Amino acid sequence: MVQQDDAGAAAPRGQPRAGPAQAGPEIRVEGVGLTYHARAGAVRALQEVNLVVEGGSFACLVGPSGCGKSTLLDIVGGLARADEGRIAIGRGHDGQARLAIVFQRPALFPWKSVLGNIAFGCEAQGMRRAQAAERARAMLELVGLHGFADAYPHELSGGMASRVGIARALALQPDVLLMDEPFAAVDAHTRVLLQEELRRIVADAGMTVLFVTHDVAEAVYLGDVVFVMGARPGRVIHSLRPGTAAHDRGSADFAGLTADILHRLAPAAPALAHGTNA
Ligand SMILES: Nc1ncnc2c1ncn2[C@@H]1O[C@H](COP(=O)(O)OP(=O)(O)OP(=O)(O)O)[C@@H](O)[C@H]1O
Ligand SMILES: [Mg+2]
Repeated sequence: MVQQDDAGAAAPRGQPRAGPAQAGPEIRVEGVGLTYHARAGAVRALQEVNLVVEGGSFACLVGPSGCGKSTLLDIVGGLARADEGRIAIGRGHDGQARLAIVFQRPALFPWKSVLGNIAFGCEAQGMRRAQAAERARAMLELVGLHGFADAYPHELSGGMASRVGIARALALQPDVLLMDEPFAAVDAHTRVLLQEELRRIVADAGMTVLFVTHDVAEAVYLGDVVFVMGARPGRVIHSLRPGTAAHDRGSADFAGLTADILHRLAPAAPALAHGTNA
């Protein structure tokens, strides 16, 4: 069963979950706008963006290149400041929400090993070194890189570096996980495995996730809710809630939802063709 509505609140999928003790915090984006002032002139990146990600749910954000997805994620993560509107993030387990961000291009410390990169955030939060290393090893295993603990970032492929970025964020056991096209550089087979793992991990932990992707099928598979953004200035033009049937990539629901989103994104194509939306 597929539920659709206009831009609005996310609801977790209907299936029973093993149940984290407490769901992650809600993310509320209200009337957010941002204009970049570049040398070539002003770029209105976001205008009147509204969305709500319910606590503990998995929200995906799709939209054409340049529509402001990364900008919105940066604003939610506190790395950029909106000119207009407000962001509200609820409380996490220990009173304040702990956020982790997986960037579109993982910035790893080149002088630290893979294990050192993953453990770094845990150590910075006061975790003992041995414990941080243990957790980092578990995360490495999870992203399929167990043999690469002692490798250095320059020895990794793009897809492997992306997986280190994901492991680094998960190691922090955040309340809110913000991910910017984390699987874009990962091969198709590994990508499917990582999608399944990620969905399991965040459901078990009750994390709230905001996940940016170009891949509409990935959004339908992963999302409790999918927000579709329109071309610049970016805003949410539609939202939909794939039901449990969309977990089956061969189902009619999955195909129907994917086609529907692609259709909604289609008007952006001419702008891309003319290079005005890079
Ligand atoms: N620091 C910046 N200075 C000036 N303009 C910027 C800056 N960052 C982004 N922009 C512009 O803002 C718009 C939105 O960029 P953003 O990176 O958020 O898009 P996106 O949806 O993440 O694109 P993609 O899917 O290609 O990653 C683009 O037109 C981009 O050129
Ligand atoms: Mg981006």
